[in-house]
Amino acid sequence: MFYDLASSSWGDEEIQALRRVIDGGQLTIGDSVRHFEEEFARKFGVRHALMVSSGSAANLVGVAALFYKKDRPLRRGDEVIVPSISWATTYYPLQQYGLRLRFVDVELESLNMDVAQLERALTPRTRMVVAVSILGNPAALDQIRAFCDGHHLYLFEDNCESMGATLHGRPCGTFGDINTFSSFFSHHISTMEGGVLATNDTELYHLARSIRAHGWTRDLPADSEIFEKRSDDFFEAYRFILPGYNARPLELSGAVGVEQLKKLDGMLEVRRRNAALFQSLFAGDERFVIQRERPGASSSWFSFTVILNPAFDIDRRDVMRAMKDADIGYRIITGGCFLRHDVIRYFDYDTSGEIVNANIAHDRGFFVGNHPRDLTPQIERVHQVLDRAAVGRRRSVVSV
Ligand SMILES: Cc1ncc(COP(=O)(O)O)c(C=O)c1O
Repeated sequence: MFYDLASSSWGDEEIQALRRVIDGGQLTIGDSVRHFEEEFARKFGVRHALMVSSGSAANLVGVAALFYKKDRPLRRGDEVIVPSISWATTYYPLQQYGLRLRFVDVELESLNMDVAQLERALTPRTRMVVAVSILGNPAALDQIRAFCDGHHLYLFEDNCESMGATLHGRPCGTFGDINTFSSFFSHHISTMEGGVLATNDTELYHLARSIRAHGWTRDLPADSEIFEKRSDDFFEAYRFILPGYNARPLELSGAVGVEQLKKLDGMLEVRRRNAALFQSLFAGDERFVIQRERPGASSSWFSFTVILNPAFDIDRRDVMRAMKDADIGYRIITGGCFLRHDVIRYFDYDTSGEIVNANIAHDRGFFVGNHPRDLTPQIERVHQVLDRAAVGRRRSVVSV
């Protein structure tokens, strides 16, 4: 394909790392995963990083951990404020643990939660906000953190799309009580499948560590405050304290992750150079709304979003056809507006205010990929194709 949505970020180093693990014979979780976790925590400046089998698993383990905290645990029926655009598995653990979701709209230009709506979304049952930085672009995490602190709410930061992004110099994925990352193939680093839960809270870390592996105590330090170690080793070896999962990563993923982390900064630099070209080509063209960073934010540019401005009479189908003919990959922005999916029927939820922008992004938006290599010819081609295909007059009345 001339311009695909994603490509491999691996080189010889990753293949050699895989080979070392295979030759060593320890394929299940071991020293490579531990090494990756240490490097990850160091790189992002968090106290604890826990590698799991996917970003989705990180979200599941993270939500579960909050239900078993000693003080102020989440409880079924508690409310959580969520943005209307995110990936499905941002929301699923919330539903699976009996939480009630309050959806708020996103900003059209950042595609992140509109923080101006937070105060109105608050009810006496609100216990948590889930913040998501969409496709590399930092949400207003400082404001959301302040809102949560002001109202004694947990902040759950799903940073699965935005590894390497920063807000006022602070890495996204460090603002939450729990923060999650994905290292799935198309993301900023790839460990094939994989994810990380990051937290500065040692109790949450120990809960998550136990929940990651069957809810047992075996991976916990003897002085952990979430259980009291007894003297009988026979029973301690198989002692279950929490309803957990098996969400452990493979040792192969940990080993590849170590190599990928070393390359992350370089790959981000290339992604940002591609983004600068994309922005310069589309700047000032009112037909297209492209993703914009808030002041102080530095996106890690997962991809390039385009929303066909509803003020213009442009048919997305014409544009998509032209993209297909030009051999350019495209797809819906993240998962579109989550409220538009059939699965919503299983949720206990409501909306706070009107959901306008998430629906515009759903109906008139798409993204093309960004890769950790120079995409100058591809981005120039996208610009030419869109410029030609997006034909339409400015509407006198905009109805969405
Ligand atoms: C916002 C968000 N959360 C969670 C996930 C899940 O990550 P994974 O694919 O590693 O399960 C994704 C996946 O892309 C995502 O975009």
